[in-house]
Amino acid sequence: MSPFPLHHLALRGPTLNFIDDPFQVGDEAALRYEPDGLVIIENGKIAAAGNYAALRSRVAPNAVTHYPDSLILPGFIDTHVHYPQTQMIGGYGVQLIDWLNKYTFVTEQQFGSPAHAAAVADIFLKECLRAGTTTAAVYCTVHPESVEALFQAAFKRHMRMIAGKVLMDRNAPAALLDASVQSGYDQSAALIAKWHGKSRLSYAVTPRFAPTSTPAQLEATGALWKAHPGTYMQTHLAETLQENEWVRSLFPDRANYLDVYTHYGLTGPRAVFGHALHLQEDEWLHLEASGSAITHCPSSNGFLGSGLFDFARARQPRAPARAIRTGLATDVGGGTTLSMLKTMGEAYKIGQLGHYSLSAPKAFYLATRGAAQSLYLEDKIGSIAPGMDADLLVLDMKSTPLIDFRMQHCDTLADALFVQMTMADDRATRAVYVAGELAYSRKHLHYSVPGEFHPREE
Ligand code: GUN
Ligand code: ZN
Repeated sequence: MSPFPLHHLALRGPTLNFIDDPFQVGDEAALRYEPDGLVIIENGKIAAAGNYAALRSRVAPNAVTHYPDSLILPGFIDTHVHYPQTQMIGGYGVQLIDWLNKYTFVTEQQFGSPAHAAAVADIFLKECLRAGTTTAAVYCTVHPESVEALFQAAFKRHMRMIAGKVLMDRNAPAALLDASVQSGYDQSAALIAKWHGKSRLSYAVTPRFAPTSTPAQLEATGALWKAHPGTYMQTHLAETLQENEWVRSLFPDRANYLDVYTHYGLTGPRAVFGHALHLQEDEWLHLEASGSAITHCPSSNGFLGSGLFDFARARQPRAPARAIRTGLATDVGGGTTLSMLKTMGEAYKIGQLGHYSLSAPKAFYLATRGAAQSLYLEDKIGSIAPGMDADLLVLDMKSTPLIDFRMQHCDTLADALFVQMTMADDRATRAVYVAGELAYSRKHLHYSVPGEFHPREE
């Protein structure tokens, strides 16, 4: 007889997990690989994880789903993405400011319609799941309806999501501006009251970026964020040189771009800055000292021609400065994919252009535990350990004939992971579990919503 109550859901297969930061302690010391692992799930959380032979007695015999030739890892975390831009990925020919005016600000005007917002939110979340992403920090549009739609859809799927209403009161079409500083504040506060902390949802106060808010709106935004502890603050920072010049002309009294946000109380724990490409040393130092996070969006930076992320400065700075909290992100629709695997591959290429070769373990870390740490969520998501939410991705390591062939010539785990991030995409997503329930199954081409019928994997 087992001394433990028998559990009724468990996944068997090779498992990958991080117990520390590979940028700090090295890849080998940070990573744990179990060739024949078992992850036991109970009430939406991981009850135990380890070697199959050691743990099998704790599981009812028919409760184990076996995934050979696969890799079980924490669900990916996309730390910066615009769901309304799902319908405008791949807009040709322009760089950031012109791209915003030509594509983004046209598309986003449609999200005052609850029906349109709901339809896109549904597609977006399904595509996240298909890509293996279980948590994202999401920009909605200026319309409260756009936030309602995303939160409703995530609530239905039990997904852990962070999202917020974009705040803008200048330098965009009138239809996309908050009617007043007060109305933007009030609408955000109402959304926080309704959604923040409900199920697995968190609110992010979301000023789009400094050029689209007046000083008065940034001031109110700082007050709003301060009045709601535990919420996030997300915005863009130093994505292009042209944007930096614009910010300098709009805020001549501030020392640099980040200082605009600091001045209005918008740096600190749970502040998440997209891009961070064109920064001065003072800004790097303040990002670290304030506990703020940055997001690296490589496919977007390449696609919009924005610049090269400085991995070495962000993650391996010289003493006395320490590493900056960093997550990987797609930034769709500036980014060209919702796949975090493809995003890792793009991050490697951006690194190479700056003579920094991002290792596969470091890339996987930035999409899982590192991203969770950047969001102060490392006690809930991003690793496979008892007590963590059971948000899990099962990756097929042979998802195309060419990857299958290439994998036969891999000698090490690092090689195998690197091949995956270089060659694989959403076709490699075999199954995704959200809060311990099967949320996507490639085999059944099926997305499940809790409470509805779904087939069991065998
Ligand atoms: N800066 C301000 N808004 C945006 C946006 O929607 N996408 C990107 N990539 N950068 C921005
Ligand atoms: Zn963005």
